[in-house]
Amino acid sequence: MATMEKMFITGGRRLEGVVQVSGGKNTAVAIIPATLLCDEPCTVENLPDIEDVHVLMQMLCALGAKVDFDGSAMRVDPRGVGCWQAPQKLSCRMRASSYLLGVLLGRFGRAQIPLPGGCDIGPRPVDQHIKAMRAMGASIEERFGVIHASAPEGMQGGDVYFDVVTVGGTINAMLAACRARGNTIIHNAAKEPHVVDLANFLNSMGARIKGAGTDVIRVRGQERLHGSTYAVIPDQIETGTLMIAAAASHGDVTITGCIPTHMESLSAKLLEMGAKVDERDDAIRVRSIGAHRAVNIKTQVYPGFPTDLQQPMTALLTTAKGTSLVTENIFEQRYKHLFEMQRMGAQVRVMDRVAVIEGTSALSGAPVYASDLRAGAALVIAGLMAEGVTEIGNVHFIDRGYEHLERKLAALGAKIERALVEL
Ligand code: EPZ
Repeated sequence: MATMEKMFITGGRRLEGVVQVSGGKNTAVAIIPATLLCDEPCTVENLPDIEDVHVLMQMLCALGAKVDFDGSAMRVDPRGVGCWQAPQKLSCRMRASSYLLGVLLGRFGRAQIPLPGGCDIGPRPVDQHIKAMRAMGASIEERFGVIHASAPEGMQGGDVYFDVVTVGGTINAMLAACRARGNTIIHNAAKEPHVVDLANFLNSMGARIKGAGTDVIRVRGQERLHGSTYAVIPDQIETGTLMIAAAASHGDVTITGCIPTHMESLSAKLLEMGAKVDERDDAIRVRSIGAHRAVNIKTQVYPGFPTDLQQPMTALLTTAKGTSLVTENIFEQRYKHLFEMQRMGAQVRVMDRVAVIEGTSALSGAPVYASDLRAGAALVIAGLMAEGVTEIGNVHFIDRGYEHLERKLAALGAKIERALVEL
């Protein structure tokens, strides 16, 4: 008998109270592989207990590391790592497996990585990652979906110029450069908070990285790196998802353990819509009483509006008064969730990279399916807003990046549960 786990949400309830945000998924999936760059044990704290962290843990073990994870702190002993071939089936499950390219080249001067998997939000090329590795002396070829890389004399410092601003490419270049011989300059670098967090972690291991958070990052390669204990930053996208959920339910929610400066583009948009946003040094309170005004969203690289919050935000916009234009400038197919929300009564149409959302009076609950991680988050928010019950399938996508999202929302007053249902 085939079954599937689904989420059931009865909408129309205000979210109220205080919720603590978890450690960042996208910083965790960069810092965990980075522990293999040193020859001593490392401890990474404040990790979210999510699927992607568990998959990475399995990958590190498959490479020979000893890894313990208690749901928050992970201890990695990299001394047993002798393999430079990433495990095929695990690597295809997530985009962050591409970081093993920089780590294994940095450590062994060799790497064999299957082309990474990840959310189906449009093509996910790695040409810029490969460009960066070649700029540091690696020879790379792609055969049958596997990247074969080698730098027999080890990685050499070099000049990396990215054609597009790429978070993953910037992270991979930093990983390879911090153990390269000589200095590397990364131009047109990504400035996301998790790029800075990784640089801070690597520097805590003795790396010499300057400029992270700007578009030029300088790395002085080091012969060896030492162990470190480091706590990752809170999750910028989970913080934003909870802020949007608070506004969507016309609630009053305080999100603690977050970094308000990471949220400025979203806070500004919520204020523009008519919600109230109050910031403390490590908390944000979002309240929403009356109707929301329609606004326009253009996703940009940090510090612009994050593409990962485009999907949750479109749910909120479905009942804003007026017409909202959403332009997705980063990925090509990041609108699948809109067609699911149409089944809930959303008035949306998509023209190339622009989604036009006509505010409607209310959504109504319906059976919908998540197509990727943030689409799932968008459908949860739509379910909180809708009259009646929304049934969400493919909730495993949500588990990839949100730590017990339904528990957090239920603690704030949402009527949300998970159940196994027969297909
Ligand atoms: C990271 O993906 C995140 N994933 C994504 O979050 C996030 O949406 C994205 O950054 C943008 O912020 C992780 O951190 C694991 P990019 P990444 O390289 O690194 C093009 C989520 O929901 N590009 O910055 O893959 C690419 O096609 C996930 O948590 C190239 O052309 O994003 C895209 O159009 C989804 N060549 C743009 O750059 C390359 O070699 C930005 O991609 C690499 C990227």
